[in-house]
Amino acid sequence: MTSREVILREIGLTPIWVNRAPVVEATTAEIHVSTTAVAAAESPEPLSEPKQSTAERESDIAKLSWEALVASIASCTACKLCETRTNTVPGVGDRSPAWMVVGEAPGENEDKSGEPFVGKAGQLLDAMLAAVGKKRGDGVYIANVIKCRPPGNRNPEPDEIAACAPYLDRQIALAQPKLILASGKFAAQTLLKSDDTVGAMRALPAASAQRAGLPIVVTYHPSYLLRSPLEKAKAWDDLMKAKALVA
Ligand code: URA
Repeated sequence: MTSREVILREIGLTPIWVNRAPVVEATTAEIHVSTTAVAAAESPEPLSEPKQSTAERESDIAKLSWEALVASIASCTACKLCETRTNTVPGVGDRSPAWMVVGEAPGENEDKSGEPFVGKAGQLLDAMLAAVGKKRGDGVYIANVIKCRPPGNRNPEPDEIAACAPYLDRQIALAQPKLILASGKFAAQTLLKSDDTVGAMRALPAASAQRAGLPIVVTYHPSYLLRSPLEKAKAWDDLMKAKALVA
């Protein structure tokens, strides 16, 4: 038995297949290199960058500029929604707004276009804003709690909300709106860190309805208002309250 065969047998790489080409005796050093390469190729652990901790990720996002934030959202893989999205939907509008509207998550139309609230709910939101002299893009910034579409328009899941939360926090910090209109249960619960109903959160005193020191007005989501038009009167009250707050 050659020295090569002895070494290969010792490390469990036998039987040795006979090469049709003339066999050239390998040195021990060559054998070491080739078996190391085989081991590396078969290694179940792919070499990858060490994973960033949640705290490191949050701290990095908290320093981003608007442009870097949009780029970070576009390449985000922090939750499973990245596997099914067509486009990320970071937000749209005036980046130094008086009002920041926060909705739930992109739907099918928003996933296609990359812009929030462009479907039927968006048309109603635009009409509500117009009724109080506001317009998307002009003194108004619109974002969602979640930046990627949940498949089939299902509700966002807690891990998805948690993964996206640093982006919304950074948007609020950069925009510094005079008030935040929390549109629907998910926006209000996320912003107020609450499990209450929209009805209960709408009734909160101004001192308790705040995020990062900014006033929050809770209102019904336009999709809900499309299904329950009689509630539009309450949404109108909320808009009046918001208008009075920043007047
Ligand atoms: N509903 C939302 O909450 N956000 C959108 O962008 C569209 C529909």
